[in-house]
Amino acid sequence: MVVIVTGASGQLGQSLQFIAPNYPEIEFHFYTSGELNITDLENCKNIFAETKPDFCINTAAYTAVDKAESEPEKAHLINVTGAANLVKVCKEFDTILLHISTDFVFDGKASKPYTEEDLPNPTGVYGQTKLDGEKAIQKIWEKHFIIRTSWVYSQFGNNFMKTMLRLGAERDSLSVVNDQIGTPTNAVDLAEALMKIILAYNLQPTTDNFGIFNFSNEGQCSWYDFAKKIFEINKMEIDLQAIPSSSYPTPAKRPGYSVLDKSKIKEVFGVEVSLWDRKLI
Ligand SMILES: NC(=O)c1ccc[n+]([C@@H]2O[C@H](COP(=O)([O-])OP(=O)(O)OC[C@H]3O[C@@H](n4cnc5c(N)ncnc54)[C@H](OP(=O)(O)O)[C@@H]3O)[C@@H](O)[C@H]2O)c1
Repeated sequence: MVVIVTGASGQLGQSLQFIAPNYPEIEFHFYTSGELNITDLENCKNIFAETKPDFCINTAAYTAVDKAESEPEKAHLINVTGAANLVKVCKEFDTILLHISTDFVFDGKASKPYTEEDLPNPTGVYGQTKLDGEKAIQKIWEKHFIIRTSWVYSQFGNNFMKTMLRLGAERDSLSVVNDQIGTPTNAVDLAEALMKIILAYNLQPTTDNFGIFNFSNEGQCSWYDFAKKIFEINKMEIDLQAIPSSSYPTPAKRPGYSVLDKSKIKEVFGVEVSLWDRKLI
């Protein structure tokens, strides 16, 4: 079985590389943005022609949520045109696409966890381009899994946990917002969930299960709670203040509530989901 992974130097890309040795039956090919630029259709075709993948995991994305507000064309190029290029090539080579999307497709006005059927309504450019990327995929090729996730962190790349650890080492006090509620996602847990989908499909190929799936860790918290746990686990003493989002204005408006309901991925693929604060690496 051949699996190619885009965005190899990103945090999910690196997390997949980290777990790849546990799957000796799979021939992985990891590509950085320099090797496989998803905005370049010819580049995508050449890579697929070389490797003839059974599955393509697209972790490549424009992920700078605030910067996207001032460069929407670039965000669109990567998150929409890039996703469309990949799915076109998947169709040409009969490859199954696993594409990663986000809780930021929702407006955050819900009061219970979002299911895959809930209506998206993004509040910013990043969320809109991710939603438009999903739609492009759905329109072009039915053999896809779109996995929506949230608040991804890991030992790799840039993420909230690493920012907190850096700031915590530099400062005595920090203020973190406590009115945005979601669920952190350990990138290695997400990588394992993707492998579970691939192995399940490979064992029993059925068109019945294609579509959208949510995956994050279990439970919910605010960014303040998340920061508090990070400092607690790492035994760092910081004067941590909870503040409202209005005291920390950002170019992109974020959903106030974006907890994802994981029932579907648990039922269909038997994915086990651990609590977000069980471990934090
Ligand atoms: N991080 C989160 O909290 C979060 C939350 C929800 C959903 N997601 C989604 O999860 C996925 C993985 O996120 P992540 O945290 O791993 O992001 P990341 O660390 O920012 O990695 C994204 C990767 O995409 C690559 N990339 C950018 N443009 C590309 C292009 N044109 N062609 C090929 N590769 C390109 C980047 O390469 P360069 O570094 O070389 O530019 C980078 O390695 C994304 O789809 C993201 O939208 C993330």
